[in-house]
Amino acid sequence: MSKGLGAGPATVVLVSGSGTNLQAIIDQVQQGHLRVRLVAVLSDVPDAYGLQRAQAAGIPTVTVNYKAYPDRPSAERALAAELAAIDPAIVVLAGFMRILPDAIVQAYQGRMLNVHPSLLPRFRGLHTYERVLEAGDAWHGTTVHFVVPELDAGPAIIQYRVAVKPTEDIASLRERVQRGEYLVYPQAIGWLASGRLTLRDGQAWLDDNPLAAPVQVDEAH
Ligand code: GAR
Repeated sequence: MSKGLGAGPATVVLVSGSGTNLQAIIDQVQQGHLRVRLVAVLSDVPDAYGLQRAQAAGIPTVTVNYKAYPDRPSAERALAAELAAIDPAIVVLAGFMRILPDAIVQAYQGRMLNVHPSLLPRFRGLHTYERVLEAGDAWHGTTVHFVVPELDAGPAIIQYRVAVKPTEDIASLRERVQRGEYLVYPQAIGWLASGRLTLRDGQAWLDDNPLAAPVQVDEAH
């Protein structure tokens, strides 16, 4: 029997922290709703809780502890070597908080997805919840996108939107947005795994139609 969890294209998930998105993906695979084989979970943080989630699900884990390397390029070379050894068809960034070097991004172009907690192109980078509350925006949410060398700039595939309530704080907003991530991220991964979703000429295509705008899902009331 092959190693990992599930059946389908070999998929590696990269995490730096809690791994609640990883858990949502594992759940979908275990329930038979998502056809991928989770061959490894890789983390840059040795005690990331996501690694424990992977172990509990029987998925092999790999750690590339960036802090144990003399400099960032050597850590990145180690990461590239681990990924090459895993040889995944699909790379899923799920709360992976390192910027990947262009060489790695290019090696998996069209096969690497990320989930970012904002309605891209609004609020690339960090602290999106603080920034959206400060800006007083009416809407916030999360975006699944293809990864390209420019940070958080790849073609958007699906967005989940929540209306920002007047009484909102960072924790309540994050909770609602992450609930959406657990829906839309497995969905997008499934599209990619089944061949329905592709990256062509710098654009996301779904079912042979270019996505002029990401598929939009709004929080149910
Ligand atoms: C997710 O909400 C994801 O959107 C965010 O990190 C969280 C990880 O949570 N990603 C980024 O901020 C990437 N720039 P998780 O570890 O519980 O899945």
